[in-house]
Amino acid sequence: MSDAPEDLVDAATAVRDNAVANYSNFKVGSALRTDSGAIFAGCNVENATLGLTVCAERVALWKALSEGERSFTEIAVVTAAERPTPPCGACRQLLWEFCGDIPVFMVSTLGKRATLQLSELIPYAFDKRDL
Ligand code: THU
Repeated sequence: MSDAPEDLVDAATAVRDNAVANYSNFKVGSALRTDSGAIFAGCNVENATLGLTVCAERVALWKALSEGERSFTEIAVVTAAERPTPPCGACRQLLWEFCGDIPVFMVSTLGKRATLQLSELIPYAFDKRDL
């Protein structure tokens, strides 16, 4: 498994500063690379409903899709957690749908890193083949 690309980690780290995380105080930054090399970054956005919170990964994904991007190669997730933070189940499902089996680079600003393929994070996923 390759090391986390520093430009992708830097983009996720930078956008994390914009996290709207007043309820959890858990700031997340994510950066998604397209097959042409462009990077789309997103932070988590919380609100008083709590349930309508959107994760950083989905913000990055929606930004890219809404700009017309359709092919992705890798994603980074940056938090300040002790354990490198994996995408939640909902984000795994959506990343699988739109990105396929990309590497997920999980990086803590405290120093720990982990990398898994998305297929390891969501094995035997439901997708269009099942319809
Ligand atoms: N969160 C993300 O943005 N991405 C993850 O991978 C895990 C969780 C956010 C959602 C919420 O704003 C906060 O972290 C705590 O769950």
